Amino acid sequence: MIKTGLILAIDTKDLVLAEQWANIADATGQMIKIGMEFTYACGFKAVKKLAQNRQVFLDLKLHDIPNTVASAIASLAPVKPAMLTIHILGGKDMIRAARKAVDENFPKGEKPILLGVTVLTSMDQENLKSINIHTTPLDQVLSLAKTALEVGVDGLVCSPQEVATLRKAYGEKVILVVPGIRLSDVKADDQKRIMTPALAHQAGASWIVVGRPITQAQNPQHVVQEIISQLQD
Ligand code: C5P
Repeated sequence: MIKTGLILAIDTKDLVLAEQWANIADATGQMIKIGMEFTYACGFKAVKKLAQNRQVFLDLKLHDIPNTVASAIASLAPVKPAMLTIHILGGKDMIRAARKAVDENFPKGEKPILLGVTVLTSMDQENLKSINIHTTPLDQVLSLAKTALEVGVDGLVCSPQEVATLRKAYGEKVILVVPGIRLSDVKADDQKRIMTPALAHQAGASWIVVGRPITQAQNPQHVVQEIISQLQD
């Protein structure tokens, strides 16, 4: 069985709250994810500070022309992220530029894992139709995964519902990072393609990303423990 880690999504505009949540992750040795909300609200200095002495997944979902994405990745180097994200929909040239930027701007041994975002976990078949994509979410994910892995990402962000198929297609080596996780008795929020931690683990997720089910809970530490216990074989 693939080992599955938990990443805590720090989605807040509040510096103090972000530190509190990061401390919860520290206490159990989990990685944190910093995304657009915290970065845009608190600024890059705050991101660097929160990232100090921590393993950070910097989830800024870069999607722009190749030159801009490459320059943005170079600008992220001071944060020393463990992982970062680009949208595969940016196309092959953009992915190639991102790969090159990671390889050239980070010292050996400190290169972040480059992840390609496939289809957002908030998107279902209807949402895809609305942007003129007439395949199923699974087929769209598989097609984007093929493109991204050919060009050279290290891993993929996908919903729990595609993990087993991607694992089967690409084996144990590919890193699969999986948001859209909900404990069975918790509301889905805006997430559509969801699964429990235990099922995502069984399907073969390398990492699960969990935000609101932990951060909005009465007792976040308790939920973290519950999730970790679900990730054991
Ligand atoms: O609060 P929740 O557990 O839904 O948070 C999931 C996190 O994963 C959010 O930070 C969101 O940006 C991120 N994410 C996602 N779907 C993707 C990629 C990232 O929900 N495909």
